[in-house]
Amino acid sequence: MGCCSAHLIRVAITEPATTSAEQSGGVIVKVVVTGGAGFIGSAVIRQFIAETDAEVVNVDKLTYAGNLESLAGVAENPRYRFERVDICDAAEVERIFFEHRPDAVMHLAAESHVDRSIDGPRAFIDTNILGTYTLLDAARRYWLTLDETGRARFRFHHVSTDEVYGSLGPKGLFKETTPYQPNSPYSASKAAADHLVRAWHKTYGLPVVVTNCSNNFGPYQFPEKLIPLVILKALRGEALPIYGKGDNVRDWLFVDDHAAALRLVLAKGRVGETYNIGAHGERTNLDVVRGVCAILDEMVPTSPYRPHEALITHVADRPGHDQRYAIDSGKIMSELGWRPLESF
Ligand SMILES: NC(=O)c1ccc[n+]([C@@H]2O[C@H](COP(=O)([O-])OP(=O)(O)OC[C@H]3O[C@@H](n4cnc5c(N)ncnc54)[C@H](O)[C@@H]3O)[C@@H](O)[C@H]2O)c1
Repeated sequence: MGCCSAHLIRVAITEPATTSAEQSGGVIVKVVVTGGAGFIGSAVIRQFIAETDAEVVNVDKLTYAGNLESLAGVAENPRYRFERVDICDAAEVERIFFEHRPDAVMHLAAESHVDRSIDGPRAFIDTNILGTYTLLDAARRYWLTLDETGRARFRFHHVSTDEVYGSLGPKGLFKETTPYQPNSPYSASKAAADHLVRAWHKTYGLPVVVTNCSNNFGPYQFPEKLIPLVILKALRGEALPIYGKGDNVRDWLFVDDHAAALRLVLAKGRVGETYNIGAHGERTNLDVVRGVCAILDEMVPTSPYRPHEALITHVADRPGHDQRYAIDSGKIMSELGWRPLESF
């Protein structure tokens, strides 16, 4: 233990805080993506396979939210591997690192639905906090076995949410420096994970980057989330439930723009830094649902449920419901040159 501690301190001190993975030894050759069968993780993997030469190992437990059909287009690619593993399983997580020997981890596996966290917080504590700890612990032990170039290049990229910052009033934007003020069991568990990642960098020198993004929209989202839920219910002529008055504001980001931002931060982000990602796409929930209904009216002119907007039903508000989220993406835009290609 004594020799390891001395070694760790040396690594922490010699790791330059401003180096990107590319500057420290080249492009990422092999990446482990946790939660790759989920909505955002599958978008990240599809991009990695389509747009780079990287090998990708998808580590996913396949909970109710995981769906390998989202990866049907890459499943046969020789650069893609799937490992059905629970990130809370320390022995399996350790095996993943030492068997696949990745240059980077992109950590997206999580319990991600706020309503479920209110009904049953335990799974959120397990996966989002203990699972992140288990990954960090294994990543650190693996990282210490790498040579100097490998250690400098290695990245632990933790993917988090703007919900850790709490709720905004009518004005203002979340910056990377905004104090944490999580209000739901989901956001509290993500905030805890963010703090663990920070501590593994500050204490052990593990080269981490963290991103906090706003609400994503796009293909392959699990249909309990607002947009796919509304589409499916409207097509079936079912009531479209909206919490309270529907005036809660979210900042919408297209999932492929998010995936591109994540790959950019992994390659060029500065170690130990956080980058907020959003597309300046603020909408009230009511506007989002009305917009979906208007598109369905146009796309399904023969629907007996037109105008679909008539299906909107206001229901009792979610406890602790945050009023407004909005992201200041100035840092990732000015430092790394990222721009969203799609608007809401
Ligand atoms: N969807 C959004 O709008 C959004 C916004 C901000 C941040 N995020 C964050 O991005 C990440 C991905 O979100 P998403 O919407 O793709 O989530 P998702 O719910 O669609 O997918 C989560 C994936 O993680 C897997 N998983 C869950 N528990 C696991 C465990 N113990 N071990 C291994 N795999 C496990 C699931 O099987 C699933 O494939 C999450 O960390 C989430 O907090 C999402």
